[in-house]
Parts: sequence; structure tokens; C-alpha cells
Amino acid sequence: MSATTAAGGNRIFSGIQPTGNLHLGNYLGAIRNWVTLQDSFESIYCVVDLHAITVAQDPAQLRQSTREVTASLLAAGISPEQSIVFNQSRVPMHSQLAWIFNCVARLGWLNRMTQFKEKAGKNRENATVGLYSYPTLMAADILAYRATHVPVGEDQKQHLELTRDIAQAFNQAYEVEFFPLPEPQIFGSATRVMSLRDGTSKMSKSDASDNSRINMTDDADLIAQKIRKAKTDPDALPSEAAGLEGRAEAQNLVGIFAALADRDVDSVLSEFGGQGFGVFKPALAELAVEKLAPMGKNMRMLLENPDHIDNILDDGAARAEAIAAPILAEVNEIVGFLGAKPQS
Ligand code: TRP
Repeated sequence: MSATTAAGGNRIFSGIQPTGNLHLGNYLGAIRNWVTLQDSFESIYCVVDLHAITVAQDPAQLRQSTREVTASLLAAGISPEQSIVFNQSRVPMHSQLAWIFNCVARLGWLNRMTQFKEKAGKNRENATVGLYSYPTLMAADILAYRATHVPVGEDQKQHLELTRDIAQAFNQAYEVEFFPLPEPQIFGSATRVMSLRDGTSKMSKSDASDNSRINMTDDADLIAQKIRKAKTDPDALPSEAAGLEGRAEAQNLVGIFAALADRDVDSVLSEFGGQGFGVFKPALAELAVEKLAPMGKNMRMLLENPDHIDNILDDGAARAEAIAAPILAEVNEIVGFLGAKPQS
């Protein structure tokens, strides 16, 4: 059996949690890259509601957040025709393969996962088994499609390495070359968007101050206002990136400008070096409004018509299942489950 994808080429899979209040950090850190990648790869983008319930969720809120995240993907420019967009729970092969991977992955491997340690906190005994085995479900997400490339942020790198370990262990245990070892595509410099109130902490939906973040639903006035109020220091901007060292807030704002303008930091500083924030902030506000406000508007419009969003997810789930079902049939055969033979 071969390790190539059905398309014989490269296939991208990535996932995003259905949490409300997506912000600039999510956009520049992940979503924007997904939009770019869909032109060069067969792309599957999944709203991971199974992962969401590894911690307690309000059911009505979970449904709403799933729609909101889908709307933000669409508003950002992901094409539901060109790419596949769906929510994870709709395609049963994720859970089926996750179980098989639970029987391949070792306790020792999972014990090393830093995200579990962070999320479980001090009260580890009270964490769900699902939170512990979160990475085996993530491996199943990717490998149920035999995806070859996985765009993720730096924080997911360890989970991707585990995915490769699981793929390799499966192949070895069953003496097949069935699963590819997927490559992480770690995003570049724009990944870390920091709080507008504190340049040393990540922009976060759970920050008490709404002024700390630019939400994807914010309108033009609010975006401009939040940038006006962003924390800065009294110095002028340097003319090279090295001069931003130790100036967390300045570094963050220049980084956001560079990412939104699709330029590198040095090029932005060659324009603004020597200028103060009195000049830089209005320029950043104008750019942010130009790039982000239409997306927010689009998103609000999409959310007025939830049926349309649900139809897109229906269609995506059917297309995703059409890829995953024959792969799972082969896996079942490899593992030795008695049942219908895979079509070949
Ligand atoms: N764990 C990822 C995150 O929190 C989301 C995710 C779930 C994912 N399944 C995935 C990302 C598969 C890439 C591939 O960001």
C-alpha cells in the first residue's frame, strides 16, 4: 500500500477550535495563512468541536461558536468550494481513528505533552481523559485524510511531532507504509500578536479588557479607537528591527503593521524610523481599518443567515467523509477488523 494521498500530491489539513471572539491574533497567526495555502494545496479546514469538549462547554454556546468560527473563515477569504470547510463531529472517522491511535500511542509520549500540563493545571486528577488524549484525536484529524502538510502555530509543534510518531508506530506495528509523516508548516514572524495593553502577553480572547484585542467583528471606529489607545513608549521608532529589542509594545505594533501590509519589519521601519507614535499610530489605524473592517462586516452579514453557514458545513462534511471513509476502510482492514472489504 502506498503512502501518497488519493490526489497523488500534497494535501493540507488544519483545525481551529470553536471558541467565540476570534481576534487579530487568530487572523494573522492562522486564518490568513490558510487563505493563502488554499491556492496551492488541496485544503481541508476543520472546526474542531470534538476537541472543544475536552473542557466543559455550554451546548448552545458551542453551536453558536462553531457557526462564528466558520463565518470568520469564510469572511477571511476561505472558499468553501475550493477548500473543504466542516465541523469535526460530523465526520465519524475522526473518532474512529482516534481510538485506534489511542491503542498505538504510549502513555510516556502523552505524558510529555506540555499543552496538557498547562491546560490541566494543578488539579490534574480532575482533568478529563479527553484532554489527556487530545493529541491522538489531532493525529486522527490529520491522518484520516492522509494529509501531508499541516499549517500550525508554534504552540502545536509538539502535537505534530507526536502525530508523526503515531503514524510511524502504526506503519511499523502493522508492517505497512500507509500513513505519510505529515510536515508541520510553522507560520512565520506574524504568529505572535500580543495584547495591545501589554506587549509581553499574547493577545487573548480571555483578557478582561476588550481594548487588549481587535476582534474580527469589530467595526472601523472600534478598530481605530483601540489602536489609538494601545500602550506605547515615549521614544521614536528605530530604523532597524534590532532597535525594537526590549520595547515589547513597539515591537508588537510594528509587527502588526508589517503583517497587515505584507512587508517585513525592516521595510516598515525604513519608512517610519525616527518618527514617534503620533505619526505611526494613525498610519497603523488606517491600514488595520482598510484590511480588517470589510472582514468584520462580512462576518456580521454571514451570521445573520445561519442556515447558509449550516449548509456550507453540511456540504463540507459530505466531501470530507468521502475522502476519509475509504481511508478508514483500509485502516480497519490493516488492523484486522472483520467487515466489509475496502473498495480498491
Ligand atoms: N490543536 C489545534 C489548536 O489548538 C487545533 C487542531 C485540532 C488542529 N486538530 C488539528 C490543528 C489538526 C492542526 C491539525 O490550535
